[in-house]
Amino acid sequence: MREVCKKSAIMAKLADLPQAIASTLKTSPPTGCATMNDRSAFVVPDITTRKNQGLGHDATDYTLAQPQQRYSAEDHATWATLYRRQCAMLPGRACDEFMQGLQQLEVDAERVPDFERLNRKLLAATGWRIVAVPGLIPDEVFFAHLANRRFPVTWWLREPHQLDYLQEPDVFHDLFGHVPLLMNPVFADYLQAYGQGGMKAKHLGFLPVLARLYWYTVEFGLINTPQGMRIYGAGIVSSKSESLYCLDSDSPNRLGFELQRLMRTRYRIDTFQKTYFVIDSFQQLFDATAVDFAPIYQSLQTMPVLGAGDIDAADKVFHVGSRVGWADSADL
Ligand SMILES: [Fe+2]
Repeated sequence: MREVCKKSAIMAKLADLPQAIASTLKTSPPTGCATMNDRSAFVVPDITTRKNQGLGHDATDYTLAQPQQRYSAEDHATWATLYRRQCAMLPGRACDEFMQGLQQLEVDAERVPDFERLNRKLLAATGWRIVAVPGLIPDEVFFAHLANRRFPVTWWLREPHQLDYLQEPDVFHDLFGHVPLLMNPVFADYLQAYGQGGMKAKHLGFLPVLARLYWYTVEFGLINTPQGMRIYGAGIVSSKSESLYCLDSDSPNRLGFELQRLMRTRYRIDTFQKTYFVIDSFQQLFDATAVDFAPIYQSLQTMPVLGAGDIDAADKVFHVGSRVGWADSADL
């Protein structure tokens, strides 16, 4: 079992960071740290058990009806705070496709959204729907949902003291972070293909390799646009601190997307990323991954795995990270 985010490891490095970033980190360790599909690796924290007490879920697909009655006035206020904060920050940082999806879905700014109301717009746009789940779910269940154009969304919301730090995905991360891009037809197809690929990778024994693709694209991806580099990864758009760090900080590398290179690269779950991979378009991402991964997995076995902060001679480099504040513990 992998350990969940270690705040102490982050805090130990604060002295090395530029002041602006350090002050953000003191209040805002990354929330995207536990938000990926290598889900079985996580210790399930107490909050999941507590929030789900007395609720059941389907034994096979882990879904449940969104328990609207469980949301308190405090929950809705917390949602409104998170929503307002990210929406103030993301224009000019998040890509147009994300901002348009958020607008087209008419995601509620004041209350935890009603999943079924969102589904009417989502189904009409791309044939996807969201389903409520208790929290992290087994890999094979997660992949089966994606392969059938269903995105599992944790129904419960973090507590007010967790605005900037959460050990696992909640409804704000899952819904605000992931769902707007499902309104984009190309990204919607990419995520379905990922689900199909996930089931194959698990069967072939290469899930840790495929997980890097999810991590560096769906969770922490950047995209080049005519207006400049923008965010599309859910782990970033749902995190105040990483929304600033990924674009403004000198510390991380920013490298051009290349499938096999990315799939050789370890990553961090306990700090901001050391490297962000930048796509040119969602079509590039879809096309590059619309191949049979089986021979790629085999060839990757003969190639060295790269550290999260390594730069390879063949890389397309947009920015070489200053490495300031990088954790020196092992990458995942
Ligand atoms: Fe996520």
